[in-house]
Amino acid sequence: MNYIKFINMAYDATKFSYAPYSKFKVGAVVVTEDEKLYTGCNVENSSYGATVCAERTAALKAISEGYTKFKAIVIVSESKKFTYPCGICRQFLSEFMSDDAEIILHCYDNDENQMKIYKFSELLPEAFKL
Ligand code: THU
Repeated sequence: MNYIKFINMAYDATKFSYAPYSKFKVGAVVVTEDEKLYTGCNVENSSYGATVCAERTAALKAISEGYTKFKAIVIVSESKKFTYPCGICRQFLSEFMSDDAEIILHCYDNDENQMKIYKFSELLPEAFKL
């Protein structure tokens, strides 16, 4: 997989982040099994609970176009630290990602490239399933 391309796309997606409340801009890229790419950013709301994270924005774009199997998701933000997916996003993504699908995190710590790759099951073991 072309990690550098995906990471750059995720940073580009942060430009569209609508985050007037937290000012925390997040970008994500979903990589479908046949390598279709869908970007997303976080979209906040003055009723805070209505906020949609970048991961779910990207996932919803893919799903609503018929792509329901993801082999990876990239998550970045403007923070110098890694941005881990929240609990709601982990559960949401568990419908569409297998245990060995990749969660790719990137940040620039003191201008140094930092990347971590997790298997989905490492970040959400024993996901709830009906
Ligand atoms: N956020 C994401 O978009 N993804 C994450 O993985 C963590 C949190 C957003 C939601 C909200 O707009 C802002 O970051 C602060 O919580």
